[in-house]
Amino acid sequence: MNPDLIRPEIAALPTYNAGLALDRFRAHYGIDCLAKLDSNENPAGPCPGVVEAIRAEAAGIARYPDAGNGALREDLAAATGTTADQIIIGNGSEDLIGAVFRTVLRPGDHVVTICPSFGLHEFGALASGAHVTKVPFNADWTFPLDGMIRAMTAEAPRVLIFSSPSNPAGPAISETEFGALLKATPADTLVVFDEAYLEYLEPAARFDAMARLAAGPHPWLILRTFSKAYGLAGVRVGYGIACAPDLAAQMMKARNPFGVNALAVAAARAALRDTDHLALSVGLAAEGRAHLARHLSEAGFVCAPSQTNFVFFDTGGVATDFAEALRHRGVLIKPWLEDPFTSWARVTVGTPDENRYFLEAVEAMRVLA
Ligand SMILES: Cc1ncc(COP(=O)(O)O)c(C=O)c1O
Repeated sequence: MNPDLIRPEIAALPTYNAGLALDRFRAHYGIDCLAKLDSNENPAGPCPGVVEAIRAEAAGIARYPDAGNGALREDLAAATGTTADQIIIGNGSEDLIGAVFRTVLRPGDHVVTICPSFGLHEFGALASGAHVTKVPFNADWTFPLDGMIRAMTAEAPRVLIFSSPSNPAGPAISETEFGALLKATPADTLVVFDEAYLEYLEPAARFDAMARLAAGPHPWLILRTFSKAYGLAGVRVGYGIACAPDLAAQMMKARNPFGVNALAVAAARAALRDTDHLALSVGLAAEGRAHLARHLSEAGFVCAPSQTNFVFFDTGGVATDFAEALRHRGVLIKPWLEDPFTSWARVTVGTPDENRYFLEAVEAMRVLA
């Protein structure tokens, strides 16, 4: 193949650091996975209503789904106090990260994000020909406001994008910090606020980010997902709330028209209705992250504070080696590959048994070291 065929922006991208599927794990390591803690999935799974809704919807799959995703957009508008024409549905929220970049970025544009960060915030922008400034978290894991403001002052970005609570680090931005950041953000910059882990926030850390955004001059997009607290990672459905119907409508053109399948829509609608299951999932995560962080800290590992369903910790060595050694004990976690965090890894809160397998495996490795 002629190497010139590939756009240089794509050729330069790394392969996405995805978690390992269970059948691939078994095929490669020849053992069963005891604890799959590498992809921030919900160990409680989806609510029972989701499985019934998918079964019921399956009878109709010979038909294309509604390209406008009308029913789910109506449900989400009611749930979020917005209008359906501000909502956009994606094949996972990652689909919407790509769509928003394709909608607004021109080659040479500037994008500001934080570091460590969710990979697609950077790679999606690079794929569109933008250049990305990644601002490292402060040493105490507060959001790097000064650095972000400096980066935006040096060159006004087309897009400011970051997640809060943050993946992979775990902390959440406070309302005061968010207000200060917005105040210093150029008015024309699109603020993409990724709330994939919103549901896991402790009550004291919650604030109405949408109201804050709506009160300011910026265009904005909030991203959320059904993959985490709702337990639907496998069916792929996420959503965005746009500042204005026109942004959602323009993004719809940058997305595949039938990219969100009928089973995913049925699943998401059912998941939204079961608030008890959501509360149970969030409770499990809150208990589990405290448990994991306590035991890891007692064992001498430095952990970042977490408002999510995972804990980011310093393995004290090469994280890929640490994760590989755990794999041989049937435990999957995600080593971080982004400089300067290549000694850090992220472990998802699993079932109590999975958490125990992980901690026992870490302890066994420490004893052997
Ligand atoms: C911060 C953040 N945003 C977006 C996503 C994408 O989620 P999905 O495409 O499953 O909705 C993830 C997944 O891990 C994430 O951590």
